[in-house]
Amino acid sequence: MPCILQLTRRFDSRPIPPASPGVRLRHFAGPGDVEIWLDLRRRSFARQKLGVRDWDAGDFAREFLHKDWWHSEAMWFAEIQRFPFQSHTAVGTVTLARRGDARNAKPVVHWLAVLPGYRRRGIGRLLMATLEAAVWDAGGRQVWLETHAQWAEAVRLYRALGYRPAGE
Ligand SMILES: CC(C)(COP(=O)(O)OP(=O)(O)OC[C@H]1O[C@@H](n2cnc3c(N)ncnc32)[C@H](O)[C@@H]1OP(=O)(O)O)[C@@H](O)C(=O)NCCC(=O)NCCS
Repeated sequence: MPCILQLTRRFDSRPIPPASPGVRLRHFAGPGDVEIWLDLRRRSFARQKLGVRDWDAGDFAREFLHKDWWHSEAMWFAEIQRFPFQSHTAVGTVTLARRGDARNAKPVVHWLAVLPGYRRRGIGRLLMATLEAAVWDAGGRQVWLETHAQWAEAVRLYRALGYRPAGE
């Protein structure tokens, strides 16, 4: 039986993204990033049994592009350079969504994912702190998210960052 956890964290100072040598961040940069995001989703959530099929560009448009909160700076990609002089490759992503009516819309962590081969290197922490700093800079002092109790890595990450059940 899936169990959804609603977690939140309040901030009393601006979150500082940790130094992450070798990792660079960028925003969504156009249609070419749709396939990159879909591939990250497919590979990062492979063990989570999210549904019966992979998503396509139409799903991406419904999930992001058609939302009233969407803008290209709401989505980040973490990239690394596998070998010197080669181009950078996306290994993680997160999106800052908004939930609720426009005046009281809550900042929400949406689709945090890091490729299996790049985990436990601080990339999830970097993406979260980057999103949180953007919320702070926009005047927000609290971030919300939903996850599944069975997604142990995500639950551990959020707890380590100070997220607690939203009802507390
Ligand atoms: C959750 C996820 C994004 C974490 O990414 P990550 O880059 O490995 O996270 P970090 O390396 O920044 O880890 C930060 C902290 O989270 C905790 N953590 C993360 N993964 C953990 C694991 N497998 N076991 C124990 N603790 C873990 C640790 O406290 C870790 O700090 P530490 O390495 O200094 O001990 C990644 O595991 C993932 O993509 N999982 C599948 C998709 C998913 O569940 N997304 C969240 C949907 S709500």
